[in-house]
Amino acid sequence: MPARPRGSTRRREGEHVYPSKPEPATVYEGRLFHRGRLVEAEMGVDDDGKIVAVAKQLRGGRRIHLGESILLPSSIDLHVHFRDPGPPGEVEDLASGTVQAALGGIGAVVDMPNTIPPLTTVERLEEKGDRIASRAWVDVLPYAALIPGVDVPGLARVAAGFKLFMGPTTGDLVTPADEERRALLESVARTGLPVHVHAEDAALFGHGHPPQDTDTWDQARPMSSELSAIRSLRDHPRSLRLHICHATSPEAVVAAREIGASTEATPHHLLLAASQFGNTQQKVNPPLRPERVRQALWEEFQKGRVPMLASDHAPHALARKSLPFPDAPSGLPGVEVMLPLLLEQVRRGSLELATLVQVSARRPALFLGVPRGSLAPGNEADFLVVDFRARRKIEARSLHAPCGWTPYEGREAVFPQEHYLRGERIVEGGEFVPGRRARRLLPRPPGT
Ligand code: NCD
Ligand code: ZN
Ligand code: ZN
Ligand code: ZN
Repeated sequence: MPARPRGSTRRREGEHVYPSKPEPATVYEGRLFHRGRLVEAEMGVDDDGKIVAVAKQLRGGRRIHLGESILLPSSIDLHVHFRDPGPPGEVEDLASGTVQAALGGIGAVVDMPNTIPPLTTVERLEEKGDRIASRAWVDVLPYAALIPGVDVPGLARVAAGFKLFMGPTTGDLVTPADEERRALLESVARTGLPVHVHAEDAALFGHGHPPQDTDTWDQARPMSSELSAIRSLRDHPRSLRLHICHATSPEAVVAAREIGASTEATPHHLLLAASQFGNTQQKVNPPLRPERVRQALWEEFQKGRVPMLASDHAPHALARKSLPFPDAPSGLPGVEVMLPLLLEQVRRGSLELATLVQVSARRPALFLGVPRGSLAPGNEADFLVVDFRARRKIEARSLHAPCGWTPYEGREAVFPQEHYLRGERIVEGGEFVPGRRARRLLPRPPGT
């Protein structure tokens, strides 16, 4: 960051001087997303990486013209699995995961605890904090696993939130029985931290032939099992901040709303559907749904009725994904392509830019209680420079995922040209550049 230019060199004779109001170090001028729409304006950022002003015209500062590009707040991804810690040869870690996040326009991620070993103790969460400090290139909110016997008040000091797995998925985190779950949720409610839930009720899983494609995977773990799990949480403590992960249908979004929980939709449930040709690369929990359900979820999302967006980035090695369908693990990578795929929907006119910013930046920031998610004075200067003409086809070989595959091969996407984290550029001309300003985030709700 260059030194702040001297204001006096720019002042004309007779102009008033306001020595108490420092000029911003850098001023970005062009079309900015501000208060729900794109406006011609200027945004001033100080040397500490905070937005200090947004106005029609600002004085001073190093000037950056945006030309045809627009400025958007960085996204926040509420749901990633960066597999750190993990055994040698694990397919992802905090370094590789956060590089993909940076390139995909995501300035902060909520990282899930189904690692090897899982994040169930204060000591492991402290160690996770060290890993974040030494490896992460974007901000990370580490979550702890909510299983019977964990020290909830202790974990609340070192974790940003809790993850509850209802139903079997990657990792062997135990699903607490109903009574245990009630007690755990009550103790989390007292900490003020959020609980994110993987909601599937295994009692309603099918017992037919082993699944061979994404159609039969959907039948094996049906939508009814998701709805049942969500509804079983209806008597959660009222003060608990409850969030339902990866809602697969409009009914799941409504069920969450009815119990007073928020929800996220994933790019795969919005853009991909189950089919008799769907292979293991599209095997995920909860499963992809039939095309008519996908379409209905997309329409709700377009109308702004799905509260938030999250990738559920869950890479697995190609060798394991090449196992026969019943044996292959569930999960797919998405953190690098989530926002680019949806920016392409904006470019085509099938999604409002305001809706996308709302679900990917503003609401996640409000939900987590972090000062970002909009280009407003006082917030961190986390933002993207996007040029809708710079679109390209997604190819696994030009992505940065160590797993080396993507379920979106060949789809058009608009990748951000630049990404700034606290005013420091971490993506330049569509390529990653290492920065120094990533942090572990442990936001505290007001009054705690
Ligand atoms: C996730 C994983 O692999 O960690 N898999 C998945 O299918 N989504 C776990 C999860 O979120 O269920
Ligand atoms: Zn899940
Ligand atoms: Zn997940
Ligand atoms: Zn590259």
